[in-house]
Order: sequence, then structure tokens, then C-alpha cells
Amino acid sequence: MKYTICFLTGCLLSGSAFGQTPRLMADNISEIIAAMTVGEKVSLLSGTGRTDPDEGQTVVGATTDIVPGAAGTTRAIERLGIPAIVVADGPAGVRIDAHRKDSPKSYYCTRFPVATALAATWNTSLTEEVGGVMGEEARSYGIDLLLAPATNIMRNPLCGRNFEYYSEDPVLAGKMAAAAIRGIQSCGVGTSLKHFALNNQETARAKNNACVAPAVMHNLYLRPFEIAVREARPWSVMTAYNRVNGTPASENPLLLDTVLRQKWGFRGMVMTDWYGGQNPVAQMTAGNDLLMPGSDRQRETLLAAIRSGELSMKTVDRNVRNILELVVKTNRFKGECGDDSPDLEAHAAVSRRAAAEAIVLLKNDGVLPFSGSVRRIAAFGNTSYDLIAGGTGSGEVNCAYTVSLTEGLTNAGYAVDSLLTGKYASYLAAQKQLLPAPQWSQPQPQVIEMPLSDDEIERASATTDLAVITIGRSSGEFFDRGLDNDFYLSEAEQSLISRVCTRFHAAGKQVIVLLNVCGVVETASWRDAPDAILVSWLGGQEGGNAIADVLSGAVTPSGRLPMTFPMDYADVPSSENFPLPDNTASRDETRYEEGMMVGYRYFDKHPEQVAYPFGYGLSYTEFSCEDISVEPAADSLCVSCRITNTGRMPGKEVVQLYIAPTARAADQPDKELKAFAKTRTLAPGEGETLHFTFPFRYLARYDDTGIPIPISSEGYSIYVKGTAETYKTVVKFD
Ligand code: GLC
Repeated sequence: MKYTICFLTGCLLSGSAFGQTPRLMADNISEIIAAMTVGEKVSLLSGTGRTDPDEGQTVVGATTDIVPGAAGTTRAIERLGIPAIVVADGPAGVRIDAHRKDSPKSYYCTRFPVATALAATWNTSLTEEVGGVMGEEARSYGIDLLLAPATNIMRNPLCGRNFEYYSEDPVLAGKMAAAAIRGIQSCGVGTSLKHFALNNQETARAKNNACVAPAVMHNLYLRPFEIAVREARPWSVMTAYNRVNGTPASENPLLLDTVLRQKWGFRGMVMTDWYGGQNPVAQMTAGNDLLMPGSDRQRETLLAAIRSGELSMKTVDRNVRNILELVVKTNRFKGECGDDSPDLEAHAAVSRRAAAEAIVLLKNDGVLPFSGSVRRIAAFGNTSYDLIAGGTGSGEVNCAYTVSLTEGLTNAGYAVDSLLTGKYASYLAAQKQLLPAPQWSQPQPQVIEMPLSDDEIERASATTDLAVITIGRSSGEFFDRGLDNDFYLSEAEQSLISRVCTRFHAAGKQVIVLLNVCGVVETASWRDAPDAILVSWLGGQEGGNAIADVLSGAVTPSGRLPMTFPMDYADVPSSENFPLPDNTASRDETRYEEGMMVGYRYFDKHPEQVAYPFGYGLSYTEFSCEDISVEPAADSLCVSCRITNTGRMPGKEVVQLYIAPTARAADQPDKELKAFAKTRTLAPGEGETLHFTFPFRYLARYDDTGIPIPISSEGYSIYVKGTAETYKTVVKFD
């Protein structure tokens, strides 16, 4: 009886009891699919396209429907109560237009630290918190699904989108992506884990074929997606533009069905990247449910394929179901429309805290934190006055402001040398006038480092307490980075560091170099000159305040490198197989001949080629790591250790757990990260016990088919790595 009533009630609500047209509900999707015409089904399988009337718009993903500036929308089917849903970028915050033609109101969003910076915190709780406020903003502005996170592996330091990615390591990348997904989806806003898979370069991305050994694909490049899907259940996955071993990712049944759905148990929706793929029928058949941004040509192709029998209605209904199951989860479907009034001030505070925790201290010869006598600061480098808050392309965010380093220092009560400030301000204003208008899909034209005379540097050394030199690097979607004046510092930058250090050291003053960068830069040739080096990454709109928090000692740096800084680009294993403007590497095909030798997996065997290793970072305090216990349990490994702050300042410690089979081939890594944890802020003398527990299957490597190889009876080496020491033990499992 109870079910009959529910069924009748359901029919009454959905309208189908009296032959009326049913209306979509969370539990009548089969009925809706049965009521849809073929045309309606096909219209749902692709988005509304770029609907902006302004053809001059340079933004790839942008619509004026519903939420102007969002990346796109699906199509509504009013007859059946199916709403259009709105999807927007991106990994560093919500990207929508800040202003609308018909509204005096502004629609600014918070520009958070980029994914690389969040990974550098090694703090999944913080990353989840950032995801939570990002999700709140998305919900407030009526965004149903955020096109984030992006978790491709940093195969090569020159990939233009590395700033949107987390790491060279799949566990750090996967755990961070999972944390971001949990945070965003906690607000009822979906995510789209991207770009699945092997989108590890921007050059020729739409047609490039990533040629990779299957075992390497499973063990390295797919692993971060596997961790994120299994642990956080993203509502959707976005396929990559590129081909994978010959087949476009969005037309690839091995990726989309065998691995994603059958092996990992993914139950969400798969969408293309914007204009991704060539063959809509192959995309549908492979399991790519939604074609974005969508076009009439695609719909005509699908209708013709259905008529010819090339595309079965079974496939169409399967993909329609995946889309509808996502639609009914959205806040919009549930009748909630955002208030367009997110708490931007509170979100900026979270962004500032995350940006400060992302900062990695690479070198500190007694200059940081600033001593109480430091009041007057000489800021050198264009970027000291024009902080780079994030990267370019779809990962941009239209925020209300960006705090520069000098503004941050001033806010913290320091006196920034006014003559230098005035000179840089005038120079930057004049030079920017001369730059060509930035093209969304091209490298942003950079102002050449302002020339300074020795006298000007001399004067500053006599009238200030210390110098900060900021080196800036941005990068973006659509293009990869270069070597000269990008990976390598320019002559002007090298000269500035050398001359400022010479003059300030002669005056008994110290010099700090700050790297406000999108990723790895060369450091070995100049790092001996300054007294301290910090990496602030692209720290979002509050970057200047966050840097001042660390320089002043208000925050103890606790960031650790999420990727290796090599001595030279030539040391990078993939440098022979990465397309550069002047090298002969193919554009059509990128051969991943380095196999598993990516990042520390290679550099552990070549420590002489490392400037700063993966996982490295200094603190203002010291920590001990004691009472280490390694206990194999029934089907998992339990490790614990006691961390104590043995120094004089409060701080957070990161503990990294690496494991390697005792018996392994020469082309296998010496060790691999399997878990990590971060303490809360520990006061001097305070301690915290950290626990790591993970299933043995995490230790297994996959074979060419993605099947786990049985764990070794020879035992495993376990490395517990803190800032100061690494503890090694060997365990055997029966
Ligand atoms: C872009 C990007 C993707 C983004 C989408 C929508 O080309 O590759 O990351 O989410 O289009 O803007």
C-alpha cells in the first residue's frame, strides 16, 4: 500500500498519471527519458554553445545565458521541467564577468592561490576549506558546477598550465584534488575533475598524441584521477583535448568505460573540454555524455547517426541519464537561486591564510623573520609593485583587487622606500602603455625589468634596512613556457640580483629574493648571492599581505615543494621529448620515453642534478620526529610518529611517508610518496602524534592492463621524512 501511494503521488506530482507530460523529479528519470523525443535527447547531449552576441569575445568558455561570463550551460527542456544548468571555471576561483550590461552591481569573485600553491601547503584540510568557500561563491552566483580541479601530472616544468595543476607526484596531486572536490561539493555545487587524461602540455593540445607505456599511464598519469574519483566522487569528469596512445581522450572507451567507470566505479557524468574531440558519435559511444560548449553541427551529426543506426538509442539513453542524474543534484533544480552576494571579505581572509601557508622558504641565512629593528625596506623588481595573482586563460578570476608586495609590507607597518616606489610606478605605467593588448590565448607581454643605476642602488642601501627583490613569472592556457627569460632569469634580473646583493652586503644589509612564479625557475646560478629565497607561487588577490605575514614572522613558513627544482632544464628527463619553439620534438606526437622517471622518481637517482628537492622547505623553527612505529595490520599499513616543536617559534610540520619494494627493477623509482600529513600550529615545546593508515593495495603497482601486481614478499622500505631528518625501516608482509 505504502509504495502504491508513493507511486501514485509520484505520478500525480510528475503529472504522468493523467496522461500529462511528466516533470523531472529526482526519482522519475526513467519516466522522463521514456517521454523525451529523440530531438530532445540529442539537444541534451550538447551545450548551448557560445551564445554571446559579441563575436569579438576572446574568451573560449563564455556565455551570456543565465550567468554572464560563465563557461557555458546545458540546454533546458521546459516541456519536461529540465532546467539548463550553468558551468563555470575554474581551479583558482569562480570565473564570471565582473560587470553586466544591464546592472550597476559588480560580480567580483575571490582569486584564490593557484592549485600549485595549495599543493605546496601539503594541507588537505586547508585545501578543502578553500574549496568550501569557492563552492559558496559559486552557489551564490548561481553556478551549478565548477570546472575544477585540474590534476594532471607536472611531467615537465614548462607546461603552460602547471600552475593549475598540483604536483609531479600522483598521491599529492590526487589527495589535493580530492580535498578540493569535497570542499566545493559540500555546497551542493558539482565539480568536473579535469583534464582526463595526459593533458601534460599546451603545445598542439587539440591533436597531440600522448604516447605512454600503459603501465606508466596507470601508475603515474591516471593515479591522481583514481585517488580523487575513489575518495571524493566528483559529479563529473572533463576529458582532455589530446589523444592518448592514438585515440582522442574524449573518444576513448579504455579511459572512459574500462578504467573510469568499471575499474574506479565512477557514477557521474563525463563532458568534453570546450570544442574537444572530432567525432561526436565516437564520443557518445565511448562514454563522453556531454559535448561542450555544444553546436548545431554536433546535434545534426548525432541525429543522422541515430537515423543510420550508427548511434544506438541505448547509448543515447545511457548518456542522457548521466546528465539528468547530475541535473537533479543541482541547487538550481532544487529551486535555490543564488543571492549574488557572497561574503567576499571572509573569503579573502581564507585566501590570505592559504597563500601564506603555501609559501616555501628555500634559503634563510639568518635574515627571516624580520628582526624588530627592520622598518625601512627597499623593494626591487617590477613584480614587487605588480604582484602576479594567478595564471591566464580559463583559470583566470575577475577579482576586485590584488595586493602587491609593497602594499602588503605597508599594511604590515613597514616603510617601503618611496623613491624606488615612485620610480617603479612611473616606469610600469609608461611601459604598460607601450605593450600590445593582451591576447587571451597568447603569453602576456612582460614589461622589461626596470634599469637601475649603481648610484640608485647605493642610495637605497644607505637609507633602508634590507632589500627584497621580486622575480615574477606567469603562464597560461594555450601555450607552454619557454627557456630564455622564463625558466631562466633574464640578464636584467640576474644583474639586478647581483648588483643589489653586492651593494647591500657592502653596506652590511641583507637581501631577500621572492619568487612570485607560476612554477619552476632556474635558481642554481644565482642562489648563493641573496641571504634568503622564498617561493610565493601565484598566491591570489591577497598575495602581498600573505607574503608580508611570512616575512614579518606573523606566520611561520610551512610550505614544501610540490615539484623538483632541477639544477638545469637539461636535467629534466622529459626535456628531450617536450616541444619547444626551437627544438625538433614533434608537435603531433609526444613520446613519454622517460617512463616513470618524472620528478623525484628520477632525481632521487641523480641528486647532483637537484637544486631543491620535491618535499623541501624550511621553517623558522625546528621539529623532532620520534616514537616512529610501523605496524603492518591485516590488510593495511599503520605508521605513526610524534612531532615536537623543539625551536623558538610556533610552526607547522609536514611529514611525508615514502615506500619502495625492497626488490625492484633499476627503472623503478627508489621510493614513492604514499601518504603525508601536516601538524596543526605547534607552539615551542608542543607536540602532536601523526598517524598514517592505508591499504596495502596502495603499495601495489599496476601492470600494463591496470591490474595490481601482487605486493612483494621481499618486503618494503618505509621512509618517514620530516624537515630535518628521514627515518628508514624495512618491513615484510606475509
Ligand atoms: C578550456 C580549458 C578548460 C576549461 C574550459 C572552459 O579550453 O581547457 O580547462 O574549463 O575550456 O573554459
